[in-house]
Amino acid sequence: MTLAHRPDGVHVRAPGKINVYLGVGPRHDDGYHALATVFQAVSLYEDVYAYPSEGFSVEIVGDVNVADVPTDDRNLAMRAAKLLARTAGVDDGVHLRIRKGVPVAGGMGGGSADAAATLVACDALWGTELGPHRLHELAARLGADVPFALHGGTAVGTGRGDQLTPALARGRFDWVLAMSEQGLSTPTVYGRLDEMRAHGEGLADDAAPSLEVPVAMLHALRVGDAHELAPVMMNDLEPAAIADRADLALALSDGVRFGALTGIVSGSGPTLAFLCAGPGAARTVQEELRATGRDALHVHGPVAGARIIL
Ligand code: C5P
Repeated sequence: MTLAHRPDGVHVRAPGKINVYLGVGPRHDDGYHALATVFQAVSLYEDVYAYPSEGFSVEIVGDVNVADVPTDDRNLAMRAAKLLARTAGVDDGVHLRIRKGVPVAGGMGGGSADAAATLVACDALWGTELGPHRLHELAARLGADVPFALHGGTAVGTGRGDQLTPALARGRFDWVLAMSEQGLSTPTVYGRLDEMRAHGEGLADDAAPSLEVPVAMLHALRVGDAHELAPVMMNDLEPAAIADRADLALALSDGVRFGALTGIVSGSGPTLAFLCAGPGAARTVQEELRATGRDALHVHGPVAGARIIL
């Protein structure tokens, strides 16, 4: 029996993300696709509270619709806690209370943020002190987006999206997120892209898999210029995500009409991310989208990855 290092529990916060660029290459035998992506962590958070316990349990609360989130071994946070315990030889369990702020099945990596926050929280709770390198390895075993949620900021992801290189990003970018009540399943969207490609559809404009992050994008991030970033933003999953969702195509053009520099589907969707010139423009876009009956939020990036709050 290991005694908890932090008997009162640990509170860790981890951010949701936007894929500012998402180039999808061929599907490998393991079912995963080669990616070239640029992640940016934004100011919409998952809060994980980890309490000492003999067994493993998860409780979900939150501002977003949490009804569909499992609390058994299908839950990525539960899997993260058990993986860390097994790896570090910890006999204790944990009770995880997860307050969700990132939309569920929204393409913003909410589940991955839960897993990243849980690794950091349980590491502190149990005093396992695995260090950032080992935590990154465990994160990559849990899911392609989990390492980025640990890392935060702005980063280029290659491989399955889990091999990260930090990208220099100056200043702050203002985003408006348009949420959907109905989520999208990530494997379904990737599968649809494969089908579309098999039929010669859904390719990037240059009809070649876009596995190179454009130099212009890295420059725009480095100098913090939203006007320069907007025209190079791209998501290969977008045609697959909006295929059956006329509402998303309409909202994308609405956001731009209301003053956004551009809008893209975030990850595998259905959340839409609109890049705005600054806070004032973002407030207008948010209000106008809300006036059309959409749930819209103004956030900013980049922000830090999974961090202990208390
Ligand atoms: O790693 P994660 O569990 O987040 O991935 C969810 C699903 O997204 C995978 O099962 C796979 O269908 C798809 N995916 C992919 N290629 C990637 C990342 C995710 O096909 N590089």
